[in-house]
Amino acid sequence: MNDVRVFDDKATLAEAVAKQTVKILQAAIEQKGSGTWVLAGGSTPLAAYEIIAEKYRDSLAWTRITVIIGDERISAMDSPDNNWHAIDQIIGSLPTRKLRPQSDQSAEDAANNYQEQLSSLAFTDTGLPCLDLVWLGVGADGHTLSLFPGHPSLLPTNQLVISVHDSPKPPAERISLSLRALIGTQAVMIIASGEDKQSAVRTAITGGSSPIALAASIIKTHDGHVTWLVDKSAAPTD
Ligand code: 6PG
Repeated sequence: MNDVRVFDDKATLAEAVAKQTVKILQAAIEQKGSGTWVLAGGSTPLAAYEIIAEKYRDSLAWTRITVIIGDERISAMDSPDNNWHAIDQIIGSLPTRKLRPQSDQSAEDAANNYQEQLSSLAFTDTGLPCLDLVWLGVGADGHTLSLFPGHPSLLPTNQLVISVHDSPKPPAERISLSLRALIGTQAVMIIASGEDKQSAVRTAITGGSSPIALAASIIKTHDGHVTWLVDKSAAPTD
């Protein structure tokens, strides 16, 4: 049974995402003294980042949290195309530890460099990064991270971070966590808003196949908690 929570609109969705995020990260700090939070790009999570930066600034020992990002576009570090740049404008002043991809290099170099950076995270007994909270967005085509349907980015790999070429969504060059990197996820919040996401959400929660469905299934299979947080416009109507 999927844990799917439907909210009236984007604003109440963002409030719930922010609240749940702080709760999960607080629990990680209480249990282990620290936590890792995987950020998501795209426009939907931006309102939740705003709420976290404003309302929850003093609610958490942010210095105990390491933030990484699930995927990044190969772009100048201060370009409007750069996912980290957009997010950092909002939550950059929170005193977290930050592992930022060097996205102004080639996709290969940026992927290798980011994988190296991720080796400083806490790892599970099975040698995978322990990700206390992962935010995942959903594309209308069912993509998540920079893993696209029918694309080589979905091929099995031992890498935690892959280079992505010829992305169907521009820009063409990207880096992304692989599906393998998600295995040590403790909790994932899949966040979707907008009518164009309805079919991708329906496919995934009814057992269909897509990158977001695969990601959710891999995390669930390895005992991670999967929660879908969607607004009414993205929620399947049937
Ligand atoms: C990207 C985006 C992308 C996004 C989804 C959902 O790098 O191109 O991060 O993967 O997360 O397409 O986007 P919205 O939240 O803007 O609908």
